[in-house]
Amino acid sequence: MSHESKDSNNPILSGIGSVFLFLVPFSLIVMLGVVGFAFLTGSGVEKKEETPAEVVAAPAPAATEAATPAAAPAAATTPAAAPAAAGGEIDPAVMALGKTSYATCAACHGPDGTGLKAGPMLMAPSLVGSELLLGDPDESLLVVLKGIAKENMDYMGMMAALAAGLDDEKLAAVLTYTRNTWGNKAPAVTKEQAAAARAKFADVSAPAGVKRAEIKKLVEAHK
Ligand code: HEC
Repeated sequence: MSHESKDSNNPILSGIGSVFLFLVPFSLIVMLGVVGFAFLTGSGVEKKEETPAEVVAAPAPAATEAATPAAAPAAATTPAAAPAAAGGEIDPAVMALGKTSYATCAACHGPDGTGLKAGPMLMAPSLVGSELLLGDPDESLLVVLKGIAKENMDYMGMMAALAAGLDDEKLAAVLTYTRNTWGNKAPAVTKEQAAAARAKFADVSAPAGVKRAEIKKLVEAHK
């Protein structure tokens, strides 16, 4: 009996008690503030991955702007489809259509292709220097037509199947554009390749997207 009343009346103990009552919520508020700040500013975590992309991206605007006006007079004297198919100069009209169509992708891949930031994370991977984008056109066509199955939380977004939103011309243009901007360089993807991919991958049943590990295998199986 006397113990309890002594403890609760002890001025030192109740002093410590009120310090704790103050310190615990105070440190929680500070921690929340730090985490919130890191979240809002996007500091930390992704720095490693972004650096090479930004380094590659740096010379891109200059290179693209230099290439576009140069390509214009050439295209004026040649039929539109021919240079694209040859993989040489890219038809500026196709690049323009691709750039407009890229609005669909920018929501996740970002206006500069390096992936939109979502707090400390990225919505989607950088398309700058992406092997999957710049390799066999059938691979990037399959990715856009069917999407990629979400197997981890590497990115905030999910690569959905975008077949319905892009006709063959826009599908080809958006891939041609992304393969040839921000310093990327790869042959144009033609409307015919897009149409052929849509037809041959029609039997690929992957409602939640194809698994990353199966992209190459699926493309080989449909050659
Ligand atoms: C809703 C968000 C979202 C949109 C819109 C989107 N993507 Fe993606 N994309 C992703 C995510 C997330 C990944 C990574 C998927 C994974 O690995 O789980 C990805 C991956 C890719 C890849 C593979 C890149 C690599 O190197 O791994 C390509 C190519 C690609 N997207 C192209 C496009 C194109 C082209 C468009 C527009 C037509 C587009 N994406 C629209 C979210 C999106």
